[in-house]
Amino acid sequence: MAAVNVFSEVAAALSVHGAAPCPNYMTTVERANGMFPPPYADEQYAADYQRQACDPFWLSSCLVANAVKEADGARKLSVFAGRIPSNRSDLADAIIRHASDEAKHARVFLQLLNAVSPDAELSSRLKSDIQAYLPSPPITVAVCDRPPYTVEQMVDDISQINIGEIRTRINQLILRPVLLAHASAEQEMRIQQVIDNLLRDEQRHIAYTGEILESFSQQGYNAFVDHIYLVRFCRFNERTIRELNGSGVDL
Ligand SMILES: [Fe+2]
Ligand SMILES: [Fe+2]
Repeated sequence: MAAVNVFSEVAAALSVHGAAPCPNYMTTVERANGMFPPPYADEQYAADYQRQACDPFWLSSCLVANAVKEADGARKLSVFAGRIPSNRSDLADAIIRHASDEAKHARVFLQLLNAVSPDAELSSRLKSDIQAYLPSPPITVAVCDRPPYTVEQMVDDISQINIGEIRTRINQLILRPVLLAHASAEQEMRIQQVIDNLLRDEQRHIAYTGEILESFSQQGYNAFVDHIYLVRFCRFNERTIRELNGSGVDL
């Protein structure tokens, strides 16, 4: 797979999902992408990932890791929604919708595992443990007795969510042909549909968080949004490189 242009990916996400114009946010994405080229958008990253995925055990572990990551994402979003000030119920509602999507995705990855590796080297006991770990949609706001977030804290969290969604979508773009290669002829259409739905959801998550960052930016926080986004973008790259140097490509 060729290198991915993050700026174009984000622009496409906004366009496909009919987002409002986001000039400040797009300028920030362009700056972040130019200053800190993300390793997960690199051609070599995709090639390494796809090479490792030829190993059925690696692919099974990768699908399990994805299920757990989506489940953790749903839980974290629910906690985040619990810290959003009460006058921003619109924001909390959007975050909870997102959390429910991620909870569904966790189950989708388990289904993909069963589809492409029915004889996965994972015991049925482990599979049922994973199943039990996954949250059940719909997700609700986590009750929290801590003070609500400030705008700065919300911008920070949403920046991290937005960047995480970009990487997740790119990982799924890389995973798509691998899964299709492992699918039987009868499964191929169904798996293609499942992955395309996942990709579309992640694209929507990029778009709506981008719109939120733009709205904060338009409300007088432009310099802060730009600053924190760049900091988080850079840290995300560093974390990806640490993961690559540790236990291989972490999804
Ligand atoms: Fe997801
Ligand atoms: Fe997502």
